[in-house]
Amino acid sequence: MSRLDIRPFEATDLPAAAALLAERHREHRTRHPLLPAGYEDPQRALAEVTALWESDDASGAVLRDGDEVTGYLLGAPKKSPVWGPNIWVEAAGHAVRTAEQIRDLYGAAAAKWVDDGRTAHYTLVPDDPALLDAWFRLAFGSQQAHAIRPVPETPIPSRPGLAVRRAVRDDIPVLAQLELALPQHQGLSPVFSAGTLPTLQEALDEWEEDFDDPDYATLVAESNGSVIGASIGSSIEKGSTHSGLSQPDNGGFLGFAAVLPEARGLGAGRALGEAVLNWSAEAGYTSVVTDWRVTNLLSSRAWPALGFQQTFHRLHRLIGH
Ligand SMILES: CC(C)(COP(=O)(O)OP(=O)(O)OC[C@H]1O[C@@H](n2cnc3c(N)ncnc32)[C@H](O)[C@@H]1OP(=O)(O)O)[C@@H](O)C(=O)NCCC(=O)NCCS
Repeated sequence: MSRLDIRPFEATDLPAAAALLAERHREHRTRHPLLPAGYEDPQRALAEVTALWESDDASGAVLRDGDEVTGYLLGAPKKSPVWGPNIWVEAAGHAVRTAEQIRDLYGAAAAKWVDDGRTAHYTLVPDDPALLDAWFRLAFGSQQAHAIRPVPETPIPSRPGLAVRRAVRDDIPVLAQLELALPQHQGLSPVFSAGTLPTLQEALDEWEEDFDDPDYATLVAESNGSVIGASIGSSIEKGSTHSGLSQPDNGGFLGFAAVLPEARGLGAGRALGEAVLNWSAEAGYTSVVTDWRVTNLLSSRAWPALGFQQTFHRLHRLIGH
């Protein structure tokens, strides 16, 4: 086998990287046509890769076969302390002709990242089995799922014994409680998420301030006259997790759902998720996106049961042990 020609990523590599990304996205859309078609155009893909390259402290590697670039990898750190001393490879941060070669590119790029003290690595990978397998053999594991489904063609009927309705101001105390219920659950085993937990008063104040924001539809589920859960629908553009290649055109977003601990597993989560699907269809969206921690034993079962199909896997590796 000939020696691989790998060198640090440079600005002149951007057009070739964009062409590879457009190719990868075209293949990805054969499985998920609801993902945005625009990035099949190398010019649109170029804007994505250029934005990554121009972000603070971006670096990476390219692989060449003769004069042709056949793979690239680009990472940059996120500022939030939640991610630790990190490097993120975003959805537009990698594409390879041969899946196995992502390992060579990572081998070249990660040396600098670790030398710089950046030991928490994250990467967003399309649901391509060969590519995922190559990343797994770099000691990455699955952390978060990004998923999509079409809106229902006809409204999903409500369930007997469970009323789902739009929230009113009087629901704010239970909405604040439910807002805490999500990070409380995600802090437990086996999720162990490091997200910050607001106080009940902070959650109440935030709800009082934001309750009338017309960009969000807040729905609550009631059983025997008491609210037991809530969900929130919005445009996908309101969420920061799904951008660029993972942001469908005209998409709705199931951005939040929680059921009180004692009421879980009895159908309220399904009813609340379905209510967001119905709301999204009524609002004129064509698809709905959501995401979940794959270690969350509740949401990772609830959202696929509602027809969400995983498009991207966020993988994570912590170096040093
Ligand atoms: C996630 C959550 C909103 C789901 O609500 P829920 O009321 O517990 O879920 P439901 O009882 O409606 O179940 C939803 C689906 O998941 C499936 N499911 C639930 N537990 C399951 C299990 N252990 N194994 C397999 N499937 C399971 C159910 O079968 C159901 O599908 P079905 O209607 O086809 O049978 C709720 O559990 C919760 O608040 N969890 C903590 C906070 C959280 O994780 N929020 C979501 C963050 S992304």
